[in-house]
Amino acid sequence: MDIGVAGVGRIGQMHAAHLTELDGDAAPDKILLFDPVPGRAEAVAAALPSHVTAVASFDDLLAADGVLVATPTDTHSDLVRRAVRGRTPVLCEKPLAGDLESMTTLVDDIESSGVDVVVGFQRRFDPATVEAYRRVRSGEAGQVYLVRSSVLDHVPPPKEYIPTSGGLFKDCMIHDLDAVPWLVGEEVVEVSASGSVLVDQAFADAGDVDYAVVTLRFASGAHAQMTAGRHDPIGYDCKLEVYGSKQVLAVGWNERTPVVRLEPQQVEPTRPWESFMDRYKDAYLNELRVFADVIEGKVANPSPARESLYSLRLAEACDESLRTGKPVRLEAG
Ligand SMILES: NC(=O)c1ccc[n+]([C@@H]2O[C@H](COP(=O)([O-])OP(=O)(O)OC[C@H]3O[C@@H](n4cnc5c(N)ncnc54)[C@H](O)[C@@H]3O)[C@@H](O)[C@H]2O)c1
Repeated sequence: MDIGVAGVGRIGQMHAAHLTELDGDAAPDKILLFDPVPGRAEAVAAALPSHVTAVASFDDLLAADGVLVATPTDTHSDLVRRAVRGRTPVLCEKPLAGDLESMTTLVDDIESSGVDVVVGFQRRFDPATVEAYRRVRSGEAGQVYLVRSSVLDHVPPPKEYIPTSGGLFKDCMIHDLDAVPWLVGEEVVEVSASGSVLVDQAFADAGDVDYAVVTLRFASGAHAQMTAGRHDPIGYDCKLEVYGSKQVLAVGWNERTPVVRLEPQQVEPTRPWESFMDRYKDAYLNELRVFADVIEGKVANPSPARESLYSLRLAEACDESLRTGKPVRLEAG
């Protein structure tokens, strides 16, 4: 199987390297890279094994069995449309598009093409998160009372990235806005958000916040309490807890969790996670394995384009609640 990678910036380079680490049926025979910055794809390929090569255009990637789109968000719609028109399955980085209107038309186009587009929400491929999903959705954990999630960057993103990010909810919390309703399996009926600038004035200059708390209320009355922040002094922290009537589950807690545990005596984390790449390495590798299985028709797409609309709808509700200072009620559907 041959896989193409469009965009070899921060996350595209990571995916290209991970593709060379796969084994068995998922290991690609050839990995093709394209990036419009002259020399960038060639330089990335040169640092990887010889079955990784640079190509001259995005269209050259469409001869592969699948294409991974790891380009800036505002290019996703065009590239995903070109890929599905060429009947090439896609693994697209999140979010599929930056606003609900353009994402909705893109999702309609994807569905009418019948070509699989997997959205790169890596929580859906993270072994511990998938186990939490299984326990909740099978009823093993009982009725869900409360979910808590937190995502904290170790260091804030580069200053030039901040105005282009789409804001804390669409850029960062969107992963949990996807994963938590997916895991709970219920409609969200109300969203409340509050946020501040505590880390860096650059976020205020961009009209953004750098620390925020969101409450989701589900149809059953269960709540999710969600935090996103741009600075954690110890490391990259991403945790999820589910409080159920039969089980209480925790994801993201081990010796690498960047917290100092004070009981019964102070325990410092060993090698705290540095970044999302470090924390979710297994999830990113699984995402690539599952993409290979989706291409071969062995499994159903676990992160379909249509479902990713919901997280963007919630992120937009968070933006509205933050702006107005009021909870936002969501209509069903
Ligand atoms: N899943 C995650 O955890 C996660 C983490 C970071 C970023 N992302 C997403 O990944 C995407 C890329 O983010 P990044 O931080 O790697 O950005 P980046 O700017 O570091 O890299 C993007 C690359 O795409 C290239 N590019 C631009 N237009 C292109 C085109 N038309 N065809 C091919 N290549 C093109 C650029 O030259 C650059 O090398 C964004 O949508 C972002 O939201 C996801």
